[in-house]
Amino acid sequence: MKQLTRNVHIIGTGSYVPETIYTNEYLESIAPTNAKWVYENLGIKERRVAAADQPTSDLATKAGLKAIESAGLTPDDIDLIIVATSTPDRLAPSTAAIVQDKIQAYNSVAFDLAAVCSGFLFGISTAAQYVATGIFNNVLVIGADTFSKIIDWNRRDCVFFGDGAGAAVLSFTESDTGFLAFRLYTDGRGKWNFTIPGGGSEYPLSHENVDAGHRYFQMVGKAVYETGVKVLPKAINQVLADTGISIDEVDYLIPHQPSINILKETASVIGMPFEKVMTNMDRYANTSGGTIPILLDEVNKAGKLKPGTLVLFAAVGSGWTYGASLIRWS
Ligand SMILES: CC(C)(COP(=O)(O)OP(=O)(O)OC[C@H]1O[C@@H](n2cnc3c(N)ncnc32)[C@H](O)[C@@H]1OP(=O)(O)O)[C@@H](O)C(=O)NCCC(=O)NCCS
Repeated sequence: MKQLTRNVHIIGTGSYVPETIYTNEYLESIAPTNAKWVYENLGIKERRVAAADQPTSDLATKAGLKAIESAGLTPDDIDLIIVATSTPDRLAPSTAAIVQDKIQAYNSVAFDLAAVCSGFLFGISTAAQYVATGIFNNVLVIGADTFSKIIDWNRRDCVFFGDGAGAAVLSFTESDTGFLAFRLYTDGRGKWNFTIPGGGSEYPLSHENVDAGHRYFQMVGKAVYETGVKVLPKAINQVLADTGISIDEVDYLIPHQPSINILKETASVIGMPFEKVMTNMDRYANTSGGTIPILLDEVNKAGKLKPGTLVLFAAVGSGWTYGASLIRWS
């Protein structure tokens, strides 16, 4: 990101995960998977699953309200709501419009952003531009997904994802803190390596498409791994080069949560001790758009973020989409 006209920082965070827990052992009892393999290879012990009557907007609303409260604001103060999701309530209207109505933030503009697992990172980058230029003052960015609705629970890849939502409120600051850089990338040649093909205009809802399993996500695990360990370090190193900050100066990496081995490999390539890499995937698995903001909220509520703390964000997702950002906490 080039020179901002106003510094942009995060003034509130919030998160929400549904109550129901599916452990690895439970999934082993319903699908051809193995609890020990899942923990050893992915770092996941359990994940949360939304209720049948709980769409993504429900999780997003709960996380969003907590973020607004933690920012010391009310829904009336929000100028823009961005919901990053790849499991929207419906194709239309946007989940952001539904959330706007649920939280009664009627002074806000609201739209969705589709970058799958990189969605929150793309969302805060988008929000920051509006705040930096003075178009909006307070922007609520929510990453929320309910992959449980698009998982085939009979397949062994049912283990990867969980449901959850996290949110942050971005605003401007006179102080010398806030976002220092963003780097975002897209490579559409990855479009078949992770996809949710059904329900859109290519494979519309039809008996035939449902019977063919097009409503479930499809993933080429090897390609995700090989891409993740290449592009996460690339984006992080570029952000460090942009800012002239060395990896040793960074206090925490708050990354997307695809697999513990991808995170360990990334940490090793960028030269960061793994203790500085935050993770909660043992409890929540990959909540897609929700991973970074849920983790950010946990790290924030744990009191780890002090004025001046340097935090890296990094994500890789379907598309491919990927990127990184660096923030000096206020
Ligand atoms: C999933 C991943 C660990 C699989 O590794 P891999 O070397 O590509 O493994 P393969 O798919 O060839 O499977 C190798 C063995 O692992 C085991 N295995 C793979 N997936 C499994 C699962 N879901 N449950 C239990 N065992 C599994 C099996 O023993 C398998 O052997 P088999 O195919 O003969 O049964 C790896 O590709 C990975 O981490 N990918 C990233 C996925 C990811 O992060 N997704 C989420 C973000 S989109």
